Amino acid sequence: MSDPVIVTSALPYANGPIHFGHIVGAYLPADVYVRFRRMRGDDVHFVCGTDEHGVAITLKAEREGIAYPRYVDHWHGEILRTLTRFGIEFDVFSGTAAHRNEHHAPLAQQFFTDLLRNGWLSEREEEQYYSETQQRFLPDRYIEGTCYLCGFEKARGDECPKCGKFLESKRLLEPRSTLDGSRPVLRSSKHWYLDLGRARDEWLRAWFEGKHGQWKPNVENFVLGDLAELRERPITRDLPWGVPVPLPGTEGKVLYVWFDAPIGYLSISKQHFAKRGQPERFEALWRNPRTKLFHFIGKDNITFHSVIFPAMLHGTGRGWILPENVPANEFFNFEGRKFNTSSGWFVPEESVAEDPTDVLRWALCSMMPETADSEWTWTEFQARVNGDLADNLGNFVTRTLRFVEKFFEGRVPPAAGQPRANELAMHANAERAVREVDASLAEFRFRKAIAAILAFGGECNRYFDAEEPWALVKRDGGRAVAAQVMHCCCRMIDVLAVLIAPVMPTTARLLRTALGREAVPLDFASVLPHGFPTAGLAGAPLTAVFPKFTDEKGQAKTALFRKIQDERIAAERARLAKLAAGASDSAPPPAHPPAPTPRAGEAVAPTIEFETFAAVDLRAGTIVAAERHPKADRLLVLRVELGFEQRTIVAGIAASYAPEELLGRRVLAVANLAPRALRGIESQGMLLAGDDRDGKPRLLTPDAGTPDGTRIR
Ligand code: MF3
Ligand code: ZN
Repeated sequence: MSDPVIVTSALPYANGPIHFGHIVGAYLPADVYVRFRRMRGDDVHFVCGTDEHGVAITLKAEREGIAYPRYVDHWHGEILRTLTRFGIEFDVFSGTAAHRNEHHAPLAQQFFTDLLRNGWLSEREEEQYYSETQQRFLPDRYIEGTCYLCGFEKARGDECPKCGKFLESKRLLEPRSTLDGSRPVLRSSKHWYLDLGRARDEWLRAWFEGKHGQWKPNVENFVLGDLAELRERPITRDLPWGVPVPLPGTEGKVLYVWFDAPIGYLSISKQHFAKRGQPERFEALWRNPRTKLFHFIGKDNITFHSVIFPAMLHGTGRGWILPENVPANEFFNFEGRKFNTSSGWFVPEESVAEDPTDVLRWALCSMMPETADSEWTWTEFQARVNGDLADNLGNFVTRTLRFVEKFFEGRVPPAAGQPRANELAMHANAERAVREVDASLAEFRFRKAIAAILAFGGECNRYFDAEEPWALVKRDGGRAVAAQVMHCCCRMIDVLAVLIAPVMPTTARLLRTALGREAVPLDFASVLPHGFPTAGLAGAPLTAVFPKFTDEKGQAKTALFRKIQDERIAAERARLAKLAAGASDSAPPPAHPPAPTPRAGEAVAPTIEFETFAAVDLRAGTIVAAERHPKADRLLVLRVELGFEQRTIVAGIAASYAPEELLGRRVLAVANLAPRALRGIESQGMLLAGDDRDGKPRLLTPDAGTPDGTRIR
């Protein structure tokens, strides 16, 4: 018997919708892999659920004034609906909140006490950010600032979205509270720390080095970088929602969400088996050294799954299994930018409402960020659907089945006589395609699998073309050859059904139904030459099972894959162009003064979250020096006193002010704008100004009583 397999997808935070980036990163590849392993005959347990604790949740629930359990329930439902839309089928989808999964908190607490008992935890009073305005401790996620590793200005207290590294909030530059933008102070609080450095030195590095060459290179390199930097990590928080620290005198303290969340994989599995009346299966699976565990995740989760969670599992001393592989994906963007659901930069549900699940799965798999970042573009989507699905695979299947319908009464002709060289060549092609797809999926190379399927589709089409069955049937004695060709083509459709099944399961079953083989299990071994069907390819409904639709001209049509019209792509791109234009109003200042048009009728820019606004550091200041820009008539070079320092700011205001009249003038400046050279002089900020009726810029001035350096909010 083969070894049991556990596949997990990163538990999505129950605090917002999941978009294409998440789907393609951690859910679709896992689902494809699970289907593939099952087609190989493996016993696979596929686990997921929502990640329901932590500040990402408390922050939002508090802001919306909703109780935590109700808040997470809402998103749990929404997320599951989206996953279902993409055909992701878990064995179990639960969560980590106590009301959803009664096994979670006890198991997470057991991990904590195991680690404490085994000496992996240390207890310390630590200075921690505290908000005097809000009278509460501020966990990392309530802090924002500039990343001390890469300089990204909107780094979160716990990790940097730009460089992907985890961070220590206290080392962030320019820290501020995400609640109100105020500068937090440090206070002392007791917390527990996991000694990762020791884990690395005692066993983790050796364990990981044993994986060398087996993990995807992007993941291996990322982990090697992490291993060099490991230190103690706090695993508790002062927060009103989460798994309580299981020690006396710790009221108000919970386990850090990143500590409890991965334990969710186990607790959800435990709940699943308990519910099914097989509680013993949980440990039989998770403590069985033969079980192979795979974590499908996005790049931002690598550290936790490859370093921290293994350290936790091992540290308990209970023999929980460690991951066999962590096939993380890189980042997936959308038309040149990061997905951003709050600003509308994502693929809305309505935009793909008509697209079959299989089509979306295929397109996403073919764009997957397997070893490097990639992106969804509408043009690419159209190319994948029209070129790959409709013109290649769909075309071959459709013309074969239509031909059989027309000339062979809809019954797949039996193979008469020995296959000729051309058929044997197709058998060899099929065999190679099966091996390639099998090997590629086994190594998480989804795009390579898709390429192999398309190459095979091309061979099928070329075979059909070269045989010219339409001419054969008209020729004396040609009908028998045409029958042979059609028999072979139908076999190839049968092979295609198996090849596409992990990615397009519905289409695969449909092809099997068309061939009258719906009862035959889809598995890789069955289509290799020795297993080629010699019977059962008759009396099929053929094209009757194809999807029906009404085309643009109102005609009833049927096709395996429906092409995407240019108009649709143009409409999607137009929507994005509009969004992008709106967003660029908040982009860095133009080097020239704005065009002289009245601005009162200007459309309001897209809604931003409070954090986006709070991220702009506005200060009151005073102009202490001013001169014309040597190379640009419209620009002035100003020296501005900001209280804590002086800045050089280049401003496009020469049309409105002479340098002399600006000395001593009070101004409002953006203090945290990335420096930018304007005609050769570096501008270290930007002054706030609005246009007058003639379109000439007028500076805004703070009221008296706001000394230089005062933060404006
Ligand atoms: N909720 C995290 C995210 O969406 C992933 C958690 S994975 C788990 O990035 F292992 F911690 F569960
Ligand atoms: Zn960074």
